[in-house]
Amino acid sequence: MRDVSPWRSDFPVFQSSMNGQEFVYLDTASSAQKPQAVIDALANAYSQNYANIHRGLYSFSQEMTSLFELARDKVSKFLSLPSSYDVVFVRNTTEAINLVAQSWGSQNLKVGDEIILSVMEHHANIVPWQLIAERTGAVIRYANLNDHLEIDRSHVKSLLNAKTKIVSLVHISNALGVVNPIAEILSDVKKYNKDILTIVDASQSCVHGRVNLEMLGQPDFLAFTAHKIYGPNGVGILAGRSDILNKMPPYQGGGDMIETVSVTGSSYKPSPAKFEAGTPAISEVIALSSALDYLSDAFAKGADQHESELTKYMIDQLLSVPGVTIYAPHTKRAGIVSFNVDGVHHSDVAMVLDQMGIAVRTGHHCCMPLMEELGVTGTVRASIGLHSQKSDIDALVRGLRKVKSLFGAENAA
Ligand code: ALA
Repeated sequence: MRDVSPWRSDFPVFQSSMNGQEFVYLDTASSAQKPQAVIDALANAYSQNYANIHRGLYSFSQEMTSLFELARDKVSKFLSLPSSYDVVFVRNTTEAINLVAQSWGSQNLKVGDEIILSVMEHHANIVPWQLIAERTGAVIRYANLNDHLEIDRSHVKSLLNAKTKIVSLVHISNALGVVNPIAEILSDVKKYNKDILTIVDASQSCVHGRVNLEMLGQPDFLAFTAHKIYGPNGVGILAGRSDILNKMPPYQGGGDMIETVSVTGSSYKPSPAKFEAGTPAISEVIALSSALDYLSDAFAKGADQHESELTKYMIDQLLSVPGVTIYAPHTKRAGIVSFNVDGVHHSDVAMVLDQMGIAVRTGHHCCMPLMEELGVTGTVRASIGLHSQKSDIDALVRGLRKVKSLFGAENAA
């Protein structure tokens, strides 16, 4: 294992201290820190030839349009999407799933139709379905987890029936880091009925290792967000089958998505433009290109191996602290580890760590049904990124030992 991350110096934030301490960032699953290359790309897009896109006949507008469309191609290549898939730019994963739920759902769901989710979904892959289920009379069925805290493949299979219209599942759990056997699960679904709409929440998938459409089970749709892959805020990606997108009604109406407008009605451009009403996050999408280049380069230089070795080190170190309970320590995972310290509330753990300059996320991680399943109100979650290194994990372990001594939990089992 490399003790020091070769990527750390790319991130200017580590020149800052937090609470007077060296900054230890263990919250990449929430949002990744930004490398200088991405910050520069964003600043350049605003400062060098900024203009609106798809509207201007002048050169800067056309240059920005080309860079924006280049980002779309890069996303497509990054995921090895075939030409039968479109890339739609939205605000985040949440908006991508809302788009499919509202647009496809309002057109296709009727009373009694079934939507299969799992109990480990992020609220962004639950609430949009609850909203459309309320409107249409569809019913949501939840797949359980197995003993390894993965989505139970056999339970998903047993839930499939003639009423199943949608299966929407997470690949990598944001709360636990568990990597679900998504390709196998979706293969079962498509074998059962190829017309069931399949959606993968890939929010945590693209940052922890190379993934492509095939590895994600060739879903009809997948969604992720730029800010978790070292890119800017405000850009989400919905990749989906063009034939399905072109049959769906627009999600929002406005400029840039229309072909013609008259006072009596409008006609729309084909996908993806049909789903990109209004001026998009132009500079942020352009900077996303730079994040994809940065990440692809890191993967070529062994980032996946760095992350898996460091994750193993983190688990071994956490297991060596008595009274720390890790959720699914031995299950296949990305660099995200959730745990609790016996006898200490997760928020108290976070507050002590914060004073030591260590950033972790605590609470329900936008996964309240999962917390209910685990029988806890929340967990402490440490998640690593390209900048992470052995010293970050050592700091976390020192922090947990301090937590235990402060809260008198040293002997708690
Ligand atoms: N979904 C993000 C997280 O898991 C915000 O922290």
